[in-house]
Amino acid sequence: MIAIENKIKTDSYKDKYREDLIDIIFDAYSEHPEYGESSRKNAKRYINWLKNHSTMFDIVLDNNKPVAFVVADGNWVSSFSGEKVGEIHELAIKKSHWGKGLGKFLMDKALNHFKNLKLKKAGLWVGEKNKRAIEFYKKYGFKPVRKYNQWVRMERNL
Ligand SMILES: CC(C)(COP(=O)(O)OP(=O)(O)OC[C@H]1O[C@@H](n2cnc3c(N)ncnc32)[C@H](O)[C@@H]1OP(=O)(O)O)[C@@H](O)C(=O)NCCC(=O)NCCS
Repeated sequence: MIAIENKIKTDSYKDKYREDLIDIIFDAYSEHPEYGESSRKNAKRYINWLKNHSTMFDIVLDNNKPVAFVVADGNWVSSFSGEKVGEIHELAIKKSHWGKGLGKFLMDKALNHFKNLKLKKAGLWVGEKNKRAIEFYKKYGFKPVRKYNQWVRMERNL
């Protein structure tokens, strides 16, 4: 894993990456379009929202092209519990790059970011049928804590 991590090239969000990030969203959620975006216009709006609600927006580049990204927010207050939590608003990897450790790399980065901010808890929402992502998050210690419509809330202590 160390060898892989040394080779991974990242950059923080820039507007020049926006169209590639929209492509990643459509590709990553192609098996669960109900949890993705309904149009490129909405996806563009969503990316702008993410940009304004993040303390870390990191992109993995392969040959200078975005293939994965994570959006972490160290200023989020849970609307359910009122607690300040490190919120992972988005984590998406291009399908061609699944299973290569990029999810782990970005998850570790987000959790370290929250720990550096002295946060005590991390949380996220995931689609209830998105078994792959739910299993992935369980591996990192996230546990389901509530449901809201088709979304599952998962949290873990830091
Ligand atoms: C879920 C997702 C982020 C996983 O990313 P990934 O790059 O394929 O995962 P990695 O290769 O880093 O895997 C990390 C570890 O999790 C494990 N893992 C990955 N998917 C798993 C699954 N479905 N069940 C069990 N373990 C799983 C891997 O085996 C690996 O473990 P290891 O380090 O012991 O070998 C990716 O599939 C994705 O982008 N999905 C679509 C978008 C999405 O659903 N995002 C989450 C929305 S909330």
